[in-house]
Amino acid sequence: MSLFRKKTLTSLLAQAADSEKGLKRTLGAGNLIALGIGAIIGAGLFVRTAAAAGGHAGSAVTISFIVAAVGCAFAGLCYAEFASMIPIAGSAYTYAYATMGELIAWVIGWALILEYALGAATVSIAWSEFLNKLVGGRIPYEWSHSPFESALDANNVLHHGIVNAPSLLILLLLSLLLIKGTQESAIVNSIIVIIKVSIVLLFIVLGWQFINPVNHHPYMIPADAKPAILPNGQEYSYSNFFRHGWGGVLRGAAIVFFAFIGFDAVSTAAQEAKNPKRDMPIGILGSLVICTILYILFSFVLTGVAPYTDFVRAGKEASVAYAIETYMHGYGWLATMVTIGILAGFSSVILVMLLGQSRVFFSMANDGLLPKVFCDLHPKFRTPYKSNILLFLFVGSFATLIPGDITGDLTSIGTLLAFALVSIGVWIMRKSDPATPRPFKTPWVPVVPILGAAICIAMIVSLDNTTLLVAFAWMVLGLIIYFGYSKGSSKLNKS
Ligand code: ALA
Repeated sequence: MSLFRKKTLTSLLAQAADSEKGLKRTLGAGNLIALGIGAIIGAGLFVRTAAAAGGHAGSAVTISFIVAAVGCAFAGLCYAEFASMIPIAGSAYTYAYATMGELIAWVIGWALILEYALGAATVSIAWSEFLNKLVGGRIPYEWSHSPFESALDANNVLHHGIVNAPSLLILLLLSLLLIKGTQESAIVNSIIVIIKVSIVLLFIVLGWQFINPVNHHPYMIPADAKPAILPNGQEYSYSNFFRHGWGGVLRGAAIVFFAFIGFDAVSTAAQEAKNPKRDMPIGILGSLVICTILYILFSFVLTGVAPYTDFVRAGKEASVAYAIETYMHGYGWLATMVTIGILAGFSSVILVMLLGQSRVFFSMANDGLLPKVFCDLHPKFRTPYKSNILLFLFVGSFATLIPGDITGDLTSIGTLLAFALVSIGVWIMRKSDPATPRPFKTPWVPVVPILGAAICIAMIVSLDNTTLLVAFAWMVLGLIIYFGYSKGSSKLNKS
């Protein structure tokens, strides 16, 4: 049946061997872990922790991190099996093309646009907020927020956003960098990782003394919690199922899940790993474990330093600097350092996301599912420059016009869907192709894939209805394009 036509493993491996000519196997396990952390720690930790705590989970956001980490660990094990078995770029999209056929591959590729393109938009919005923080709030509210946002200033004057200009600027700079083909070397990435991790550790160690135990009681938000006050002066009630107790923890998990996105980027480096069989699982799972420990400690300190209701009222994206300035007197320098480190750290996340997106587009265009323009290479730089320009326009329009929490949740849905399908894919492949050698095997199949998919789906369901509706509309649009264009233009169709 043509909807489920598959690329053969032999053709994929031949493609891998072909593209290997230009790539050196230089990355060891340590480099791969650094690559993972470089792509993982970003706005999810520094921005969404406070959003999840303030709106849904309270101090129990630490438990939200554990729930999200468990889902990621199961999906990560499945990724590790595929990455060691099919070590080529394109990630989940490529795995699906070989296991579940073209239609599912398309669905994953389309969902990955939400992950990478919207992920880049979300982090660029946070980047803008932190830049404004660094320059003392001198960028006017109107020029650093989307038209759908408004807030009262200190004089009780209501401001409405027009366009988020700084986020457009960082996207432009990084897109130009990608077009130029300047690769983020393992060394530069490692430096950024050292800075990021040091700042997280510094905040944990210094902030620990400022934890006020009152802020951790009760640990979960009670159903009868007093409403918090939103920046526009309205009340924010906690009575909804997903805004207190375990429901709030689950919604919190879906929100902070964003903080784990990026470990799958390790799988795209499979062709450059010295020993993919051993090191891919170490890189993927190692970066996950390190980040999970840091996240739990960080969120414990953050919600101990400031009461969760503060994060509904104030701080917004720059919540960590807000907590330091408000509650950690004498540590203003730490807030500045955190902000500078975050700006550098976010830049690497955005870069990897834009890069990941152009790689997925590249693979899809190569397979004939997207127009050729997405795989046209620049004659000199050998980068998919047209794709980078189109991507900049696409991501830029989201980043400048849509509020960060909406793009962030859409990013999570796209990724969760891809994770769920990759998990199921491992199980299907074990049944349909038991003989193919698997250098790394996911343990306890089908339990791990089923639990991985189930947790990811539970997190999808717990996201709010508007996000689900927009994501559904996005997938319907994807199917219209598939049946109207891609199915007919697929190279498999022609062959
Ligand atoms: N995990 C990345 C971040 O939190 C996407 O910014």
